[in-house]
Amino acid sequence: MANAYALGEAASRTTGQVDALFLFITVVSLFFFLLVEGLLIYFAIKYRRKKGAGAAETPDIRSHLLLETVWVLIPSLVVVAFFYYGYRVFRDIRAPAPGATDIHVTARQFLFEFRYPDGRSSINEVTVPAGKPVKLILSSDDVIHSFFVPAYRIKQDMVPGRYTTLYLHPDKAGTYEILCAEYCGVGHSVMRARLVVMKPGEYAQWRKGEKVAAAGTLAEQGKELVEKSGCLGCHAVEGKEKVGPNFGKPFGRKVLLADGTSGTADEEYMRESIVDPGAKVVNGYPNVMPTFKVTLSPGDVTAIIAYLASLSGGGREEKGGKEKREGAHANKEGEAEAVRKGKTLAETYGCLGCHSADGSVRVGPSLKGLFGRQVELEGGGKVTADEAYLRESVYRPQAKIVKGFPAIMPVFQGKIPEEDLSAIIVYIKTLK
Ligand code: CUA
Repeated sequence: MANAYALGEAASRTTGQVDALFLFITVVSLFFFLLVEGLLIYFAIKYRRKKGAGAAETPDIRSHLLLETVWVLIPSLVVVAFFYYGYRVFRDIRAPAPGATDIHVTARQFLFEFRYPDGRSSINEVTVPAGKPVKLILSSDDVIHSFFVPAYRIKQDMVPGRYTTLYLHPDKAGTYEILCAEYCGVGHSVMRARLVVMKPGEYAQWRKGEKVAAAGTLAEQGKELVEKSGCLGCHAVEGKEKVGPNFGKPFGRKVLLADGTSGTADEEYMRESIVDPGAKVVNGYPNVMPTFKVTLSPGDVTAIIAYLASLSGGGREEKGGKEKREGAHANKEGEAEAVRKGKTLAETYGCLGCHSADGSVRVGPSLKGLFGRQVELEGGGKVTADEAYLRESVYRPQAKIVKGFPAIMPVFQGKIPEEDLSAIIVYIKTLK
């Protein structure tokens, strides 16, 4: 990887910072390596036993305070310098970026799903404007994955049942790779996505062409869930307090907890308080909230948190989606709607993590051109990929294995309802 600091062409300010740090460590290490090795070789030659000379007596040196002080002090200072410089860069990269756009990222075997504040979502591609920081709120639906943007030199684990965050500083327009950097199963090596950074003007253009989610912005979805789930019975948004703390209180504030410690009311704290309310009770409030672990899906929790953040001005960006959404509603045709639904479901259930829609081979056969095709089976024989075959392959994947592919697909019987599967098959049919 070319050194961005030396070349002066960083995709992000973090790129230059990390490269400069590495360059510093490398140069200092190299200097001492050459010094020590050079002296070693020099002394070996200078003080070697000359031909015909007798054994010389080694002088008996017990201690030399000045020398010892110097060789303890200098390496110590070097190590402290490494630490301090590294700490400064780390702190700067991890520090909350004011005015950042919140984007939720969920990892699933083997894909990344991005959810924008306006309710749109995308798989394996995230588009952001240059010059505006982005806050990624990361989580995983299954195992530990890791979000790695090599061009930005940043990486963060994505852990099931917990939120982690990562700030992007997209400074230069371009397309950058996103890799999964945690071995997460057979499809690990194909688990990659793209970070598309557009110039602000281009980005505005692109935004106009994008369909807005019919379900409303993420915060709007969250608001609906909050009303539906009965949260408002105990939490007022503003005004007089009910049983629990008000929702309108500033997001990210410090809260004093019942056990005397304090916490930060950030995404991870909110998530924990929804699924495990007793874990961190705010001081002065009764520990009476029930868990919503079963009633609210991780996606629901994400939407609710986006709503809570929006109450204190977080997760902004993208206004004016509403009118467009109503427009989109007016011209929906049944057919296109069904296909779109199937596509969303194929994404949600993670089908696209292993089966591409563009003909490329991931873990399993591509869905493109699959319908109606003759497929060769493992152990001989052929079968037509018709509706019955697709249905069977989803509900009982081991029944017929396509030749050349591993028999590792999990059983989706009982996980995908009939009607969802039908919609997914409608979608697969369109992938010619
Ligand atoms: Cu996900 Cu490796």
